[in-house]
Amino acid sequence: MVTDEKLTRRKDSAVDIPASSRDSSKKAARHRGAEMQRARRVVLRPIGYPFRLPNDPKVSDLRIDNQELFADYAREQWGGSVVRNGMYLFDRYVMPDFAFRVVVVEPEESIITRDTEIVVEQSSTLPAPSSKYHLSDIVGHDEVKRKCRLILRYLKDPEFFGEWAPKALLFHGPPGTGKTMTARALATEASAEIIMAKAPDLIGLHVGDGGRRIASLFEEARANAPSIVFVDELDAIGITRSFQSIRGDVSEVVTALISELDRTGEINGVVVIGATNALGLIDPAVRGRFDVLFEFKLPTRQERLEILEMYSSRLPIPLRVDLELVASMTEGLSGRDLRERILKEAFHVAVSRGLPEIPARLVHEIVENVRRRSTPDYTI
Ligand SMILES: Nc1ncnc2c1ncn2[C@@H]1O[C@H](COP(=O)(O)OP(=O)(O)OP(=O)(O)O)[C@@H](O)[C@H]1O
Ligand SMILES: [Mg+2]
Repeated sequence: MVTDEKLTRRKDSAVDIPASSRDSSKKAARHRGAEMQRARRVVLRPIGYPFRLPNDPKVSDLRIDNQELFADYAREQWGGSVVRNGMYLFDRYVMPDFAFRVVVVEPEESIITRDTEIVVEQSSTLPAPSSKYHLSDIVGHDEVKRKCRLILRYLKDPEFFGEWAPKALLFHGPPGTGKTMTARALATEASAEIIMAKAPDLIGLHVGDGGRRIASLFEEARANAPSIVFVDELDAIGITRSFQSIRGDVSEVVTALISELDRTGEINGVVVIGATNALGLIDPAVRGRFDVLFEFKLPTRQERLEILEMYSSRLPIPLRVDLELVASMTEGLSGRDLRERILKEAFHVAVSRGLPEIPARLVHEIVENVRRRSTPDYTI
C-alpha cells in the first residue's frame, strides 16, 4: 500500500538504507552477525528536523538530562542497525523524525547492540533564540484565552484542583487559526515543558509501535511535569471505527491514547492538548475523554485588522497600504493566510523587485490572487 510505503520511509532510522529494504537489511545484518562487528561506542550529534514550517522555531539544541537513560532508549530503537560515520539516525518516538548524525562509531561500520555505549555530544553553542509565543501575541480568541487562564492556574498549582483538574483539552478549528501557537503560548506562560507530536507519526508499522510511542510520550511528560503533551492532527488517529478496520494499528493507538488520557486524571501537572481541523472525524470515545473544548474561529474583520497591524509592524520595509481595506477584503482567511500568504508574499515580491517599500497595488494584487485560490480545505 502506498501509505505503508511512505510510513516505512518516514520511520526508517538509517537514511542511507533504502526504505523498502530496511527490515531485510536488518535481517541481513543479523544474518551476517558473525562477520559484522558489534559497535562498542557511538557518539551522536543532534541535528534537528529534516524540514520545518516557516514559523516553527528551529530546533537544533537538545537537552539530555540523563545520558544513561538516553542510551537505553537509543539502543531500544536503533538496536540491530548498522552504523557508519556521518550517517543519520532518526528518532521515532519522543520527537519523531528528529535527526542525529553519527560522529563517532567504533569500530567503523558496526552493529548497534544491547551493549553499545551511546552518547550524545553536548552542544557547545548556546541554544538558538527560541521564538516563544505569549498569550498576548494571540489576536482575538477571547474565550480561548479565558479558558487558557484556567489551564495556567492548573499547571502552576495542580494541588489546588485535586480531583477537579482539567486534564485533556481539544483545540478544534480551521487551519492557521492559532491552535499550535496557543499550545506553545500556554507552555511559555506556565514555564511548562511542551512535548509535541503529530498523531500520524504515532501510528506504527508494527503491532505495538503506536502504543509504545504514546506511552513514551506520556512518560516523558510525567517526568517533566508541569508539562503539556500536544498531539496535533488528532483526527488522523481518532478516526471512526470503520477506517480502523482497515488499519488495525490505528485502533491500537486510539486505545493507548484513551488509557493514557484516563491515567492523566490521576497524575498532577500533565495536560494533554489534542488539535484537529476535523472534529467530526474524531472517534467519539476519544473525544469524550477531552474535558475542555476550545473552538478556534476564523478572525473577524476587526481581528484581521489587528493581525495585519501586528505583523506588518515587524516587516523590515514599510507597507504602504490601507490595512482597513485589506482587512475588509480578506474575509474567510486565517491568521496564517494573512501573515504568510499576504504579508510575507508582498514583502518577498517587493524585495525581489528591488523596491524600498511595499506598494498598495502589490498587496491588492496578492490579496486578489489568494482570494481566487482560496477554497476551504477543512471540515468541521
Ligand atoms: N489569532 C492569531 N493571532 C496572531 N497570529 C496568528 C493568529 N492565528 C494565526 N496566527 C499566525 O498564524 C500562524 C499559524 O498558526 P498555527 O500554526 O497556530 O495554526 P493552527 O491552528 O495550529 O493550524 P493547523 O490546523 O494548520 O495546524 C501562527 O504562528 C501565527 O503567526
Ligand atoms: Mg497546528
